[in-house]
Amino acid sequence: MSLLDQIDRTKLPSHIAIIMDGNGRWAKKRGLLRNLGHKSGAKSVKQVVEACAEINVKYLTLYAFSTENWNRPKLEVELLMKLLISSLKKELKTLQKNNIKLTTIGNVDSLPKSVHKELMDVIEKTKKNKKLTLSLALSYGSREELIKTIKEISLKVKNNLISPENIDISVINNHLYTRNLPDVDLLIRTSGEQRISNFLLWQIAYAELYFTEVLWPDFTKENLFEAILNYQNRERRFGKTSEQLN
Ligand code: IPE
Ligand code: IPE
Ligand code: MG
Repeated sequence: MSLLDQIDRTKLPSHIAIIMDGNGRWAKKRGLLRNLGHKSGAKSVKQVVEACAEINVKYLTLYAFSTENWNRPKLEVELLMKLLISSLKKELKTLQKNNIKLTTIGNVDSLPKSVHKELMDVIEKTKKNKKLTLSLALSYGSREELIKTIKEISLKVKNNLISPENIDISVINNHLYTRNLPDVDLLIRTSGEQRISNFLLWQIAYAELYFTEVLWPDFTKENLFEAILNYQNRERRFGKTSEQLN
């Protein structure tokens, strides 16, 4: 039986988030420039996006560029931004065909104007799509997101719009970049690194974590199905005992 056939469609993770890591090492292993690793990584993005639409995962969030990634060599950052523009242009058709809505999380105002423009264009054109919400984390950092959230809530408290006693999980959720997304169910990181690197710290409170040695440009639909099957074999207890669940 294929991996796809083994997936229980009634127990799919509603929200999958992926830390797409290992492009540089993939290129280095082949004696190529890092940039070619990023280019090759774009193909894996297409694979997982299509796979999620195919099996009916509702939310997919991809970590594409972190606030810390601004500290990379200027040329690498420039090439990543160019790749982003060309991928957005190229994949608009795929998004429309598969009924996928593009959104973004992160400080998108800090992106170059040309990237911002292309991004807003694709977001606008796909906003009515319903099958899958694809969120690209761009210039995203969880700590920055939390600082922004705290500032916004503080201001509302100061202006008597919220009272401190009423600040709860949903108030926080409603001020995050992810306000329109459910909690993450499954977080995948490729390339063997076992860290979170400032991604969705609040939103992964009860996510299942899945680490794989596979480098991002080698990651295929089958690898995604493997991760989902692994997820489906876990018991999510949310603090309760196993007996309470059964
Ligand atoms: C992930 O691959 C892509 C981005 C962070 C933009 P890396 O570029 O981090 O690849 P490694 O970790 O150097 O192999
Ligand atoms: C995390 O990967 C960011 C993205 C995948 C976009 P990094 O490669 O930047 O992470 P660290 O710095 O090695 O932890
Ligand atoms: Mg890396």
